[in-house]
Amino acid sequence: MAESRTIGVFGAGWVGLVTGGCLAELGHKVIVRDVVPDRVAALQAGRLPFHEPDLPEVLARNSGRIRYTLDADELAGADVLFICVQTPPTYSGDADLSYVWSALDDLPRAERRQLLVMKSTVPVGTGEKVRAALEARSLANVGYVSNPEFLAEGTAVRDFMNPDRIVIGAFAPEDAAFVESLYVGIETPVVQTDVASAEMIKLAANAFLSTRISFINEIANVCELVGADVESVAQGVGLDHRLGPHFFRAGVGWGGSCFGKDVSALKQLAGNSGYHFQLLAAVIEVNELQKRRVIAKLEKHLGRLRGKTIAVLGLAFKPNTDDLRDAPSLVIASRLLAEGAVVRTWDPVADARERLQGATQCDNILETVRGADAAVIVTEWNELRDLASEQVREEMARPLIIDGRNLLDPQATRLAGFAYEGVGRPTSPFEALPEVAEREGAAKPPVRVSGPVEGVRGNREVPPARN
Ligand code: UGA
Repeated sequence: MAESRTIGVFGAGWVGLVTGGCLAELGHKVIVRDVVPDRVAALQAGRLPFHEPDLPEVLARNSGRIRYTLDADELAGADVLFICVQTPPTYSGDADLSYVWSALDDLPRAERRQLLVMKSTVPVGTGEKVRAALEARSLANVGYVSNPEFLAEGTAVRDFMNPDRIVIGAFAPEDAAFVESLYVGIETPVVQTDVASAEMIKLAANAFLSTRISFINEIANVCELVGADVESVAQGVGLDHRLGPHFFRAGVGWGGSCFGKDVSALKQLAGNSGYHFQLLAAVIEVNELQKRRVIAKLEKHLGRLRGKTIAVLGLAFKPNTDDLRDAPSLVIASRLLAEGAVVRTWDPVADARERLQGATQCDNILETVRGADAAVIVTEWNELRDLASEQVREEMARPLIIDGRNLLDPQATRLAGFAYEGVGRPTSPFEALPEVAEREGAAKPPVRVSGPVEGVRGNREVPPARN
């Protein structure tokens, strides 16, 4: 068990509460400070402002060791101050550090030395700037350490307690050692480095994860053209120990509050320093286009989407969170609305009513697909695994499933009577509406390559050549 310290946390957002809760779980006393009175009041009353598995239990279990306040002066007795505020993108794609600077404005005047630990994702060079700002404010007795977070939404508590590594970038070795001591009890490699490198590790990790996804999405798009199955391809490639299987799932593109922001912040940081980061420009563009491919797939089957009813299933940017920030669902649903489609949406926890005005958010899956010309799986919630059911088929006006996350088994879905399109999977027989079929010359039955093609799951079905 770690020696118990008193830890102040600036920011009762997702990173602040997970960090505060888990540090309390490790035995420390934690005071979380936020500037939003309603948020602090809700936390004091035991209510969590967002959905994150395991976090309510962690906070409840450690309620004797964690408290919430609006008053930064209550952090004056803390040994360490974690900065866990948001760093959203500005219009230029740089990171907006205004919340970091206002936390610095509110730093309590402590009698003894305190350590400021940056958890928020910040541009490389921020540590140097903060150090200069602290000196300018005669706060030279405040030390600075960069200790980036690698928490993924939906698994944040597990990620904190069982991390792949802890990264600590410090100006003074004793500060690094002090921060490392807070994590005693967690078995993992610790990377001790300089502040700039720690800042870069965080940005590079998110940029590389995004790059892997954009890469496999482009492979998927080529698979669609040449009749290969990206699921088998990803498996076969990912088994190479040099490449690995993670973050290699093709889909409708990445979303969330981190990838878009951090990839663009790194690209911008490079540009500001005189380097054009070409690869990241492509990673971002591929992701934007990937979301929109759903529209073309729907049009292939339904022709013009004006007046067609489309069920958008899953709104959160990934399962097990209610977070809608940068969610592909918002782009897809907005494009559908712009095309004049009737959009019905469903999500077990996320509420998009304000952001998707014009769409109808339904309470359950059956209600959402009622009368729909197509159902689109945007987020791979477990509840959608049984989508290809008789009940759903009967409710739909037209049994067409566009599976944006390759959640369903194509063959089973087709056997259940649905036309099915995944991402980078052998395509469905071309079952277009009559007027589309006529225009596209698709009236001929599809050519079927029957029998399992070796190494590829399911039959390969090839649409007829276009006239
Ligand atoms: C991400 C990183 O995974 C964390 O390590 C990091 O700490 C965090 O950002 C952050 O900077 O705070 P998060 O955004 O919560 O975490 O979610 P991810 O699990 O990384 O998923 C991001 C997006 O990529 C989701 O839309 C997901 O559906 C998509 N994704 C993920 C794919 O399309 N394919 C994959 O193979 C994996």
